[in-house]
Amino acid sequence: MPRQYQHLSAHERAHFLEHGWLKVSNAIDPKYIEEWMADLWPRLGYDPEDKSTWKETYIKLPRHREVPAHQFCPEAWNKMVEIVGGEENIDPVRERYYGDQFIINLGNEYWNTHDEHPTEAKGWHTDNDWYRQFLDSSGNALTIICCFTDIPARGGGTLVAEDGISEICQYLYDHPEGLDSPFEDTLYTHVPSCKKFTTIEAQAGDVFITHGLLPHTVSQNHLHYARVISNPHVNLVEPFNLSRHDGDYTLCEQVILKALNRDSVPEFKPARSRLAHYPRTAFFKRARVAEELQRMRDAAVVKGLDPNSVDSFYVKGEAAILEHEKRNGYDKEYGPGGVLEWKTGEKYRNIVPVSRQVAFPSRIWLDMQSIHFSEVGRSCTVLCTFGV
Ligand SMILES: [Fe+2]
Repeated sequence: MPRQYQHLSAHERAHFLEHGWLKVSNAIDPKYIEEWMADLWPRLGYDPEDKSTWKETYIKLPRHREVPAHQFCPEAWNKMVEIVGGEENIDPVRERYYGDQFIINLGNEYWNTHDEHPTEAKGWHTDNDWYRQFLDSSGNALTIICCFTDIPARGGGTLVAEDGISEICQYLYDHPEGLDSPFEDTLYTHVPSCKKFTTIEAQAGDVFITHGLLPHTVSQNHLHYARVISNPHVNLVEPFNLSRHDGDYTLCEQVILKALNRDSVPEFKPARSRLAHYPRTAFFKRARVAEELQRMRDAAVVKGLDPNSVDSFYVKGEAAILEHEKRNGYDKEYGPGGVLEWKTGEKYRNIVPVSRQVAFPSRIWLDMQSIHFSEVGRSCTVLCTFGV
């Protein structure tokens, strides 16, 4: 019997296949928006009423809280499950919890009065910095955009290139040896020449389900407010099957086949071993944990609360932290590309740290301040290369 769909309408299935993404309105349980957004500003260390304190235009935070994905956004989760062909296909541990790793696009005075055409945007990418990327890799089957604030027009929503998937798939087909991140100089160079761009507009609570190979980047926030999203993913257990005898492909697989204009790709075989590693872009987010935690504690004290009452894994002991690490791949070794260190002014550089950032409460300060590293790549000036 062909695949049956209970949560995806025919229209939704067709939309995902045509555009590579699907909007699920009002999908996030509002209690998580309320609870997690409550300490956004202490975490940032900015004054929401004084924009002169907004030193950076774009910031990616680490997580302090996470809940099972199906609890966070039940209706959207049901649709994700159907897009990938069933819950049994989904990794039972990796990224099964969604959390408050906010991505904040604040804009600035300059972008209040300047425009940027999608073809001029920088930082095109797909979210795949924790595994060797082959055509059939399902390490990131779906990139999810969870909207914690409204995102009006010109408000810095995610920019996607719907017709950018084909060349990515073709490049991966032509390179069965697979690619290790960073991919900026290979997989996405064609995207500025694309024609079908969409910029996300949303209400707080909306979820966008996007195919893992849909190229995207951030658009400029011309309204100079705090646009807040998170970007969890859906990881599968097995690679995509691009050669099904019965032709009954999952929607995720159909997007890839459509991009290649093929009915099946039986000849594709990875020419190297598969590899999963520490997420390359997690390092600079986790480097913020100690100072964020201190500000959260300070904010609790101002409210007359116990500083250890803050809601974070990092005050709940090693078991809670290790669970979090395992769910997000932080227990893995660094990959061939090392990790990214963030430097002020929205600059990043590749490094291979000697010690991994395991931030246990009893020695969080020590670990965060004693990281040694060797630089493995030139410093690079990029604007939000890895987020949306
Ligand atoms: Fe992304």
